[in-house]
Amino acid sequence: MRIMILNGPNLNLLGTRKPEVYGTQTYDDLVQFLNTVAGSLNMTLTLRQTQYEGDLITSLHEAHERAFDAVLLNAGAYTHYGYALHDAIEAISVPVVEVHLSDLSKRTEPWRQHSVLEPVCVARFMGEGFHSYDAALRFCKTHYDPLKNS
Ligand code: DQA
Repeated sequence: MRIMILNGPNLNLLGTRKPEVYGTQTYDDLVQFLNTVAGSLNMTLTLRQTQYEGDLITSLHEAHERAFDAVLLNAGAYTHYGYALHDAIEAISVPVVEVHLSDLSKRTEPWRQHSVLEPVCVARFMGEGFHSYDAALRFCKTHYDPLKNS
């Protein structure tokens, strides 16, 4: 099955950015982790990281046009106010799973506790570091694998 994983702004700084919240592993470590998990689940990954909301939207449209089976989206801080991203997710038929390294409900800043994307995503996995992505991939395998569900 074909999965697109989109990581938003500042996620390239993993390892040095707030390690007490996001951990000490780097973005390259995350990429390696995702490729290993995807390989074990027999998934083909398209993996992107960008600082720009418009690029995330263009990738969501592409996932729709190219009929990906699912998208994992960690939109970074756009999660909290990205209404154009909300509309893009709502407009496409590909299921989008929201992913976060940290547990938004336990973050100290009140604005960080709310996701404007949650209502249009099919599920949300957070608070488990890299394993949030692992759980999201396994969720996709269970629910959206075209071979499994044919
Ligand atoms: C994050 C949480 C967001 O609030 C933050 O802006 C991020 C990362 C997470 O993975 O925990 O960049 O999405």
